[in-house]
Amino acid sequence: MARIIGGITTSHVPAIGGAIAKGLQQDPYWRPFFDGFTPVRQWLAETRPDTVVVVYNDHGLNFFLDQMPTFAVGAAPSYRNADEGWGIPQVPAFSGHSALSWHLIEQLVGEDFDLTSCQDMAVDHAFTLPMALLWPDQKWPVNVVPVCINTVQAPLPSAARCYALGQAIGRAVASWPGDEKVVVLGTGGLSHQLDGERAGFINKPFDLQFMDSLVTNPRWATQFNTRQLVEQAGTQGVELLMWLATRGALGEQVAELHRNYHIPISNTASGLMLLEPRG
Ligand code: DHB
Ligand code: FE
Repeated sequence: MARIIGGITTSHVPAIGGAIAKGLQQDPYWRPFFDGFTPVRQWLAETRPDTVVVVYNDHGLNFFLDQMPTFAVGAAPSYRNADEGWGIPQVPAFSGHSALSWHLIEQLVGEDFDLTSCQDMAVDHAFTLPMALLWPDQKWPVNVVPVCINTVQAPLPSAARCYALGQAIGRAVASWPGDEKVVVLGTGGLSHQLDGERAGFINKPFDLQFMDSLVTNPRWATQFNTRQLVEQAGTQGVELLMWLATRGALGEQVAELHRNYHIPISNTASGLMLLEPRG
């Protein structure tokens, strides 16, 4: 039986791709961010997962405002990266796991989640940069199942719904007869706002409470509606929904193996957590 061996949650910011391209990992600005990944890479080297379910939000590369699924699951043989207009180098394509993708789609639709299945899908910085932080040689020793949650065009799915989606992903992986070791990788957040009067907004107390809640009280953030999440975390800070879905997939109890929090990376409060299910 397939099993989820861990959850990794991290911020994603296009500037990370620029820093990687320029080799700025040890630069004083970037070092507190990049150094945070060392223990996670160590854990990956020890646990050697087969498959990564990547929960992320597309920013206009694969889905634009004219066609915006609330939840989309990739079921492609591979996923290409393409130029997003940020000037960051593209990364090699990712191998898919179509059979597991279709199993997830069948199970989730069977549980009344209305999803879009994508047999052709380009993946943007929210997918590629966290993968490049986990495997800097970009040789991708895993295959992937992309799960995309809309956070760019209203109306957004609620925190409670994203948590429930994560729980359903957990059940779907557990019911897959293969023996894959699966990691769930959730990317986005933490607090940031890129536009409007509050551009540059960051809320450290909220971010820290949210990170704590994922360990001790994972449904804590489901008390907030979308408007309240935007108030607390910023318009783009709602990307923390990816963290919530990831946490939902891990079951009731988790152990926190690692955490990093650093302000700012570009306009973003960057967070990183490594959680292991303790079920
Ligand atoms: C930034 C953060 C994001 O999450 C994103 O998708 C794009 C830009 C930033 O802080 O610059
Ligand atoms: Fe983003």
